[in-house]
Amino acid sequence: MIHNISVIGTGYLGVTHAVCLAELGHDVIGIDADPGKVARLAAGRPTFYEPGVAELLERHTGSGRLRFSRDPAEAAAFADIHFLCVGTPQSPDGPAADTHFLMAAVDQLVPHLDRPALVVGKSTVPAGTGRAIAERAAGLARPGIDVEVAWNPEFLREGHAVQDTLRPDRIVVGVSSAEAEKALRDVYRLLLDDGVPLVVSDVVTAELTKLSANAFLATKISFVNAMADLCEAAGGDVVTLAEALGLDGRIGPRFLSAGLGFGGGCLPKDLRATVANADELGACTTSALLREVESVNQHCRARLVDMAVQHCGGSLRAHRVGVLGASFKPGTDDVRDSPALDVAAQLQARGAHVSVYDPQANANAASVQPALEYVDAMGEAVRDADLVLHLTEWPEFLEADPAELRPLVREPCIVDGRNALDAHRWRSAGWSYVGVGRSGTDG
Ligand code: UDX
Repeated sequence: MIHNISVIGTGYLGVTHAVCLAELGHDVIGIDADPGKVARLAAGRPTFYEPGVAELLERHTGSGRLRFSRDPAEAAAFADIHFLCVGTPQSPDGPAADTHFLMAAVDQLVPHLDRPALVVGKSTVPAGTGRAIAERAAGLARPGIDVEVAWNPEFLREGHAVQDTLRPDRIVVGVSSAEAEKALRDVYRLLLDDGVPLVVSDVVTAELTKLSANAFLATKISFVNAMADLCEAAGGDVVTLAEALGLDGRIGPRFLSAGLGFGGGCLPKDLRATVANADELGACTTSALLREVESVNQHCRARLVDMAVQHCGGSLRAHRVGVLGASFKPGTDDVRDSPALDVAAQLQARGAHVSVYDPQANANAASVQPALEYVDAMGEAVRDADLVLHLTEWPEFLEADPAELRPLVREPCIVDGRNALDAHRWRSAGWSYVGVGRSGTDG
């Protein structure tokens, strides 16, 4: 069954969700307070780059199945299902998530509702937020108008957002009634018919599922990074170790790449918010475990800086360091909480002259760390370098010819912060290659 749906908040998550709902056949209105954003989206032009979004936006603003407005009253009049997709950033005064945008969205929508509605949270939130929204909505709704709140977390990755939405590993819906479950089954009917697994839970379990999915991924990365330290100390090779671990079906190979650790707009922020949420609820084992995960992740950055200092004989002063990569992962220009940019800034703070090249993220990086030097080519970044650091595994770096770069540097030494370069190739071209947690091998 086709539904009339509103998507409130047209940031990264909201736009992706809105275009995918239209692709699934629904009639969709996207709501945002920002007039510039609404005008741009209504004209079929996306406000960020994400593979597939531009095509779907153009297709469905063209087909009339998707429109945008600033007016929450329009959403209330048009739709029976309202997805909340506004951001939940870190609070300005602590590690917890700030849910005030969500509450504001509820305040602006609910008083306009003139018939029963289902409000579905998609944002990542502390446990209990859905319940708080339900209470708030009950207080704001007109007499006799029933507003049910459900939670349907998203698990999408940057660079794969459309694919992750239209071909997800699973759909999780947290509901309080059979009607809400039926409505959400309808929304995702095409995906369910395609065999995508559905997990139905209560609202709080759905909220927690998202927090723990992120926490688990972060833990897996920190685990392998802790093993990298052990490999370093014992003379082992973490890349081979991870390969062997990953072949165990119970463990699996993904998220076992050791190196610089995780960054981005989600994993670090959500991990901190989960620690705060667990502390607040008195769940001490959860917060103790996840605090360590966070601290191992910070250690990965310090480890790279130490490796650079060591290579430069104990001080970075008067040394030139070429940095390859600034985005938090390849395939994006996003530098939020980027390990690469953090390390580059730390090297500069210790007196190195740092020259950064990223295929896509130079401009964003320059706005966050303006004191670093940014250059337009890999060859420029490594020119006269005493040390080269590979910090984001863009294909351009993996495919680069080390023999061509060799004459440009003062000293042919590369530290591979992502363990992603072909060590043999670099060594054969005359470089000294150092990976993370690879002390005892030719890796
Ligand atoms: C992540 C989650 O994957 C997604 O489910 C959630 O909805 C949002 O957060 P994203 O931020 O796009 O998605 O990044 P992801 O691809 O998961 O990578 C996160 C970070 O972990 C990157 O900095 C990456 O470099 C790092 N990483 C990943 C590792 O250090 N090692 C690995 O093995 C995998």
